[in-house]
Amino acid sequence: MAKQRVLSGMQSSGRLHLGNLVGALQNWVRLQRDYDCYYFIADWHSLTTLYTDTSLIRENVKDVLINWLAAGIDPQKCTIFIQSRVLEHAELHLLFSMITPLGWLERVPTYKEKQEEIKDRDLGTYGFLGYPVLQSADILIYRAQYVPVGIDQIPHLEITREIARRFNFLYGNIFPEPEAMLTEFPKLPGIDGRKMSKSYGNAIYLSDPPKDVEQKLLTMMTDPARVKKTDPGEPEICPVFTMHKIFSSKEEQQFCASGCRTAGIGCIECKRILIKNIFGVMEPIWEKRNELLQHPDVLSDIVEEGIKKARKAATVTMTMAREAMRI
Ligand code: TRP
Ligand code: SF4
Repeated sequence: MAKQRVLSGMQSSGRLHLGNLVGALQNWVRLQRDYDCYYFIADWHSLTTLYTDTSLIRENVKDVLINWLAAGIDPQKCTIFIQSRVLEHAELHLLFSMITPLGWLERVPTYKEKQEEIKDRDLGTYGFLGYPVLQSADILIYRAQYVPVGIDQIPHLEITREIARRFNFLYGNIFPEPEAMLTEFPKLPGIDGRKMSKSYGNAIYLSDPPKDVEQKLLTMMTDPARVKKTDPGEPEICPVFTMHKIFSSKEEQQFCASGCRTAGIGCIECKRILIKNIFGVMEPIWEKRNELLQHPDVLSDIVEEGIKKARKAATVTMTMAREAMRI
């Protein structure tokens, strides 16, 4: 039986961090065994907010790609490509824009939220409002069944399904309605205890050298009640312990939790255990990254191959869509 199709994308608007690794990438890696996976870098989407300064886009695309491969996304098992290299996405986006009511887009919660959050740029553009329409084209052009995304993307998936239904109603049944594949994962805290995010400046990046990762973790916020080593603490309110829950063994977690509550261990000792475990996860990534950085030709072969496969799939859908619309 043919494998079901999974599709997901990531914007290219910055370096990837540990939160992206445990929240999305490791899940994508797991999916590639059982599904026909299409993973792409959404560089056009990053233009919706970064259009005034495009100087870093290409570099960021390359960095995202290196991180994907280093994290175990395998071009032998899935299709990896860049959105802007498959022009059919733009054509489908245009066709969808004809049938998408403005009200659907204005109601998307991320539309207002982002506009309020990002004050230094004008997001009152046509492209920014149309972000979910482009995302719908990304998904529907591959007629994907499942879309692994975080909970914040659910409204975009809902619009995708609405656009599919509307197109199918108007012109005939072309697009299957995709489903979100929610990955429930505890949010990784950043070194200041807030959610790890590149906009907070509290992230540990996959591209950080070991020394920086160690330094960041050594200065990471702890339970503020532990001023001195003799002050007992409460691991459940400590962001370092939240990290332990993700990266450390049950035994290590117990050791740290009871050592913390009884003031039997200091925060540095507790963090050393975490550092060892995070290094265990990052070491193979660092190795692979260095290897790839030295072989840029391998990178371009991989994307060119992926782009070819993606175009082929996209072309089939576009032929059907144009036919259905009689254009
Ligand atoms: N909006 C997604 C994000 O910010 C990125 C994205 C663009 C995407 N097109 C997509 C995700 C299609 C899934 C499917 O994370
Ligand atoms: Fe946090 Fe560990 Fe220090 Fe306890 S011992 S406050 S869990 S860093």
